[in-house]
Amino acid sequence: MGYSMNTIYVKNARWISITKIIDGHDGILSVANEMGNIPFDIKRVYYIYNLINHRNVMRGKHAHKSLEQVMFCLNGQCSVTLDDGNRRQNIILDQPDKGIFLGTHLWHTMQEFNSNCILLVFASQLYNEDDYIRNYDEFLETVKVPRLISHTIK
Ligand code: TYD
Repeated sequence: MGYSMNTIYVKNARWISITKIIDGHDGILSVANEMGNIPFDIKRVYYIYNLINHRNVMRGKHAHKSLEQVMFCLNGQCSVTLDDGNRRQNIILDQPDKGIFLGTHLWHTMQEFNSNCILLVFASQLYNEDDYIRNYDEFLETVKVPRLISHTIK
C-alpha cells in the first residue's frame, strides 16, 4: 500500500482519491463524480482488460495535447511510467479507489500487468487521434523549456 502511494513529482500528474463507502453491506462501493473527485466533465469512459504479463507488453507510449484523463486499476495491478519531459517516475496502480490524473503533455506507458488487471479510464474529451503525440522526440519538443538567453552586459 505504501509503495503504491508514493509521491508523484512529475508535472501534470497527481493521485486522485475517490469516495469509498464501507457500510453494513458486503463489499466496498466507490464513487467517481464529474467535477468532484474527477476534475473535468466526463465525456468518455473506456477500459482495458485481457492483459498479459509479458515483458514486451506495453500500452500508452503517447502524450496528449489537450485531453485530461483519470485512470484506475479496478482489479490486479500494473505499473505506470510518467514522464513530463524533464523527470520520469514509475508508480504502481493497484487500488480501485486511488487513481492517477493524467494531465496534458505527459508521456505515459503502462506495463507489468497482472493477468487479472482491469484499467478504467475517464476522459475529458471524445477520442481524437489528432490530440495524440505518439512520437517521443516530438513530445520532448512540445515540452521543451525555453532556454534562457544569457546576455553579456558591457
Ligand atoms: P490508445 O489510446 O493508443 O491505447 P493505449 O494508450 O491504451 O495503449 O488506443 C489504442 C487504439 O484504440 C488506437 O487505434 C485508437 C483506438 N481507440 C479508439 O478508437 N477510441 C478510444 O476511445 C481509445 C482510447 C482508443
